[in-house]
Amino acid sequence: MSDLFSPFTLRGLTLKNRIGVSPMCMYSCREDGVPTDWHMQHLVSRAVGGAGLVITEASAVLPEGRITPADVGIWNDTQMAAHARMVAAIHAAGSVAGIQIAHAGRKASRAAPWVHGPAKNSWTTMAPSAEAFEGFAVPHAMTEAEIGATITAFAEAAKRAVKAGYRFIEIHGAHGYLGHQFLSPISNRRNDSWGGDFEGRTRFVREMATAVRAAIPADMPLALRISHTDWVDGGWTTEESVELARRVKALGVDLMDVSSGGLDAGQKIVLGPGYQVPGAEAVKHGAGIPVAAVGLITEPKQAQQILAEGKADLILLARVLLREPYWPMRAAAELGRAGALGIPPQYERGWNTLAKWDMDQAIAAPMHAL
Ligand SMILES: Cc1cc2nc3c(=O)[nH]c(=O)nc-3n(C[C@H](O)[C@H](O)[C@H](O)COP(=O)(O)O)c2cc1C
Repeated sequence: MSDLFSPFTLRGLTLKNRIGVSPMCMYSCREDGVPTDWHMQHLVSRAVGGAGLVITEASAVLPEGRITPADVGIWNDTQMAAHARMVAAIHAAGSVAGIQIAHAGRKASRAAPWVHGPAKNSWTTMAPSAEAFEGFAVPHAMTEAEIGATITAFAEAAKRAVKAGYRFIEIHGAHGYLGHQFLSPISNRRNDSWGGDFEGRTRFVREMATAVRAAIPADMPLALRISHTDWVDGGWTTEESVELARRVKALGVDLMDVSSGGLDAGQKIVLGPGYQVPGAEAVKHGAGIPVAAVGLITEPKQAQQILAEGKADLILLARVLLREPYWPMRAAAELGRAGALGIPPQYERGWNTLAKWDMDQAIAAPMHAL
C-alpha cells in the first residue's frame, strides 16, 4: 500500500513523497519564452510547501508550438539558463524539479486565457490534418519533414532540460495539443503511416517517446501525459490509452500521467471529485505501469485513499495548489504524518505550533528561547 508521504522511486530518482505540482501555464513570459521571476516564485513556493515533485509548465519545444506568446520555451540556450536558475532553487528547497515539454499544434497562437482570442502577432499553426479546433484557425497539415523536425525538437528540448538540471521529463500528449491531435481520430484524418489505424495514429507519440528516451540519461524517469478519453463518441478511448501505455512502456516511458479531454469542443465531461482517477486506474492495471492521478483531487484523505486503494502511484495537484501552496503541510498535519514531510527547519516552528501532536511540546517551549 502506498502512502502519500512514502518515497516514490522511478529509475534512479526517488521523490520524498507522492505529491506533485501538476504543470500549470502561467502565461507570464516575455515574448522570447524565457521564464521570469514570476515562474521562479510560483514554482519555488510550492517546493517550499512540501511537494516532492514540481513540474514546470508546458514548455514549448519550438516557438510555433507555444499556446500563447507568453509561454515558457525550451528551444534555446537563453531559456535553458533561466530554467537552470529555477531548477537550482527548487532543488535547494528540497523538492525535485521536472518539466513538461510540449507543442500545442492547432491550439497554438492564442492570447492568454484572461484576454481570449488569437495571439496579437498570430502565426500559422500546424497539426496532423487541416482540421480546426472549434473557433480556432485552420492549421496547416504537417508534412513528413515537419513531423520529423518536431520529433527532433522534442529530443533537443529534453537534452536542454537535462542540462538545466531537471530530473524528471514529461512529454505532453494530452489536452488536445499536438501529441493528442495525432492520437485522436477526430483530429488525425491522415491516410499515411502517421494516421489511420491505431498503429498510425500512435506513431508520432511513440516516436517522440523513443527520441526523448534516447536523449536523456538512462537513470532519468520519463513520463507521458495523456488524455485517457476525448469524452466524445468516435474519439480517442480509454482502451486505446491502455494499449498505448503498454506500447510506450516498452519504449522506456516510466510513468503515465492520466488526464482527459481538451481535444474537441463537443466533449461531455462527467465532472466530480477525482473524476479522472478511473482512467488512471485502468491504465495502471491494464498496462502494468505506474501512473499519476490528477483532476479535482483536493483533500488529503481523498489523495491518500487513491493511493491506498492502489489506483495510482503519484498524486498531481493543480488548482488547489494555486489556492494553497502549502497543501502538503496541511495534508501532513491532517493525516498525522508531520514527521514524514521534512518541513524546512526555517519554518518548523510555524507548523509545530499548529500540529496537534506537537501542541504540548510547543506550548511548553519557553517563548524567550525562540
Ligand atoms: C492555470 C492552469 C494552467 C495549466 N497548465 C497546464 C499545462 O501547462 N500542462 C498541462 O498538462 N496541464 C495544465 N493544466 C491542467 C492541470 O495540470 C491539471 O491537470 C488540471 O487543472 C486538473 O487538476 P486540478 O483539478 O488539481 O486543478 C493547467 C491548469 C491550470 C489551472
